[in-house]
Amino acid sequence: MSNRVKHIAIIMDGNGRWAELQGKKRVKGHEEGAKVVKKITTYCSNMPDIERLTLYAFSTENWKRPRLEVEFLMKLLDTYLKKELPVYLENNVRFEPIGDLRAFSKSLQKTIQMVQDETAHCDGLVQSLALNYGAQDEIIRAVNRLKKEAGEITAEMLSNTLDAKCDVDILIRTGGDHRLSNFLLWQAAYAELFFTDILWPDYTVEDLEKIIQRFTKIERKFGGLK
Ligand code: FPP
Repeated sequence: MSNRVKHIAIIMDGNGRWAELQGKKRVKGHEEGAKVVKKITTYCSNMPDIERLTLYAFSTENWKRPRLEVEFLMKLLDTYLKKELPVYLENNVRFEPIGDLRAFSKSLQKTIQMVQDETAHCDGLVQSLALNYGAQDEIIRAVNRLKKEAGEITAEMLSNTLDAKCDVDILIRTGGDHRLSNFLLWQAAYAELFFTDILWPDYTVEDLEKIIQRFTKIERKFGGLK
């Protein structure tokens, strides 16, 4: 029997290098990257098996980047969400951010909340953007919430308290590096990992289709024998 993919998670790396290779400013790569976010989301929304797409858009470590790049990313996110709202609705996509949103400006928080509210009734694909997200930070925030409960913390309790509550089936990283960079460390415990040299702005639906094809043929044992 072939595997069904329910949850795809992507580390969208390589925007800066893509731009530099063309003699452009790094931020141009982020702009192109946002277009790929739209294409991949639309594709996934048309695939009935795929329930959730989680995209690493801004990590807890990305604040270390030059101020102008961080400001550009914030503005890009705000513009993207406002402009794409009709597309979320057309494709029945529910937007669910993960991460600690309190670090963002009040106005960006408002946009994020608005898109979340407006798409709350959509019951197709869930597009989850990881925003000011780091898996270690997510786990610490969950444990601190659970500390108030009596008794021992179980794996199930922790799973249900994390920002992202679904296990990952396919985890893809573009841009050539082979690391997880603090992304969904708990939820990806049994994910199939795919690394590609393709830079995110060059990533296509066909590239994703090939990975899904490979995934369907993998024997997943989850620590068992069959
Ligand atoms: C990594 O590339 C990418 C990011 C830190 C940001 C991801 C953002 C986008 C794909 C665009 C914005 C997204 C939305 C949803 C509007 P990098 O800059 O680290 O690339 P490099 O490794 O080549 O420097």
